This record gives sequence, structure tokens and C-alpha cells, in this order.
Amino acid sequence: MTSLNGKVAIVTGASSGIGQAIAERLATEGAIVVVNYLRSESKVRAVVAAIQGKGGKAVAVQADISVVADARRLVVDTAAQFSRVDILVNNAGKFVPKSLLDTSEDDFDAQMALHAKGPYFAMQEAAKVMRDQGRIVNISSAGTKLHYYGATAYLGSRGALEQFTQGIAQELAPRGITVNTVAPGFTDTGILTEPYRQMGIQLSPFKRLGRPEDIAEVVAFLVSEQARWVTGQTIQAGGGIVM
Ligand SMILES: NC(=O)c1ccc[n+]([C@@H]2O[C@H](COP(=O)([O-])OP(=O)(O)OC[C@H]3O[C@@H](n4cnc5c(N)ncnc54)[C@H](OP(=O)(O)O)[C@@H]3O)[C@@H](O)[C@H]2O)c1
Repeated sequence: MTSLNGKVAIVTGASSGIGQAIAERLATEGAIVVVNYLRSESKVRAVVAAIQGKGGKAVAVQADISVVADARRLVVDTAAQFSRVDILVNNAGKFVPKSLLDTSEDDFDAQMALHAKGPYFAMQEAAKVMRDQGRIVNISSAGTKLHYYGATAYLGSRGALEQFTQGIAQELAPRGITVNTVAPGFTDTGILTEPYRQMGIQLSPFKRLGRPEDIAEVVAFLVSEQARWVTGQTIQAGGGIVM
């Protein structure tokens, strides 16, 4: 795989789980990684220290991706600090199970703000500053193809992001910028409660949960030069739970 030496990558929600694995993987390839987080300051410090300990480059930046001004600031400040942005990974997310009848308007808005609106405007800002041949990867969920109970608003917000991927891929293709979605299946992070862990193990023909590194490898491919001909796609990375 081609090295990301000298490239600047933003990974949202990278203080733990899948985002952390993506940040570490891109840093291993040589990218300078902006490690975004919401509240977990001690965790993000550990992620940055681990990357730096292996000779990589990373900085932590707090921003609430569900707030458009913050999502914009993350991209604008990165461009100002490093004079370039090459990669944006919209990974930040939070699954709050709610049935239709239990979903308040605030619950609904919170899902849309974090998984659809914030990433949309982060992409808009990135489109202004990103170098040609840049890469955008949106993290969605295999659940958009599974539709499990209590996840309707969450998965609706994820479906919006998958749709944005296709439209923005068309708009940015003339500059060689690719835009893709990765849809993880049940992945072994703090987000999963025990019932979902068990469901995930049963649903995958591999009979295990995904590991954050399984997802990070797919993202590493999509941001590489070798993936230049892949755009507008939703790549299932769920251990076969969607076929
Ligand atoms: N694990 C799975 O089975 C699975 C399956 C499908 C899709 N996904 C998606 O994959 C992504 C990563 O999930 P994960 O499993 O790795 O969960 P995780 O370990 O809980 O990580 C979530 C990350 O998102 C950050 N975050 C949450 N709200 C944020 C906000 N408003 N602004 C900025 N950052 C925010 C958290 O930061 P703080 O720690 O600072 O709060 C944390 O870094 C999410 O979008 C999730 O929906 C996960």
C-alpha cells in the first residue's frame, strides 16, 4: 500500500474503538492525524501518546461533531495548522436504542445532528480546503441493511450519510477526490451491550465480533492511492452479516 507520508488526516470520534484503530492505522502509514474527541480527554491523550510512541504524528482536537460550527472549526483549524487536509474520516457516533414510541423530538434531532448534519458540513468544509486526490470516508452501519429493533432513528441518520456519500462523490470526482462509506457490523467496542454482542456473534458466519482493526484496514485501503477508482460506494465490513 502506498504510504500516506506527509498527508494530513482528520478522524472524528477517535478517542476509542473504531476511530482509535483508524487513527492509529493511518498514523502507521505516515499520515499526520488529527484525533477528534468529544469528552474523553484522558483517553485521547493516550491515543496520541501511543501514536507518538511509535514514531507517528498526531494531535488531539476537541469538537462536538453534532454542532455544525464545531464540525466546521475542526476542518478549518486543521487546514490552518498544517496547510493541507488530505483525508477526512467521519466516524464519530453514538447508538442510543429507542423504539418509535419512545423517541422524543430531541432524541431524533440528536441522531440526525451527529450522524448526518455534522458530517455533511464537515464534508462541505473539507471540500473547500482538501487537496486534489483527497479521500473522504464515512462510517455508517451494516444495520442500514438489517433494520434491528430500537434503531430506527439511528439507522435513518446512517442511511442519510450513505446517500450523502453518493452525491458528494459525484461532485468531487472531477478533482480526483473519492468519497465512500464503510459499514461496520457488530464490532467489539464499548458501544455494544451484551445482547447486541451475542446477536453480532450469531449473525456473522465467522461467529465472532468484528475487531476495530478489521474496520481500520478497510479504511486504510480506501484512503490509499490504490483505491482511486472506488467512489460513491458503501463497503460492508461486517464479517458477512450482510450479503
Ligand atoms: N461498534 C459497533 O458495533 C458499530 C457498528 C456499526 C457502526 N458503528 C459506528 O462506528 C463508529 C465508532 O463507534 P465505536 O463502536 O468505535 O464507539 P465508541 O468506542 O463509543 O467511540 C465513539 C467515538 O465517538 C466520539 N463521539 C461521540 N459523540 C461525539 C460527538 N458529538 N462529537 C465528536 N465525537 C463524538 C466519542 O468521543 P468521546 O469518547 O470523547 O465521547 C468516541 O471517540 C460510530 O459512528 C458507530 O455508530 C459501530
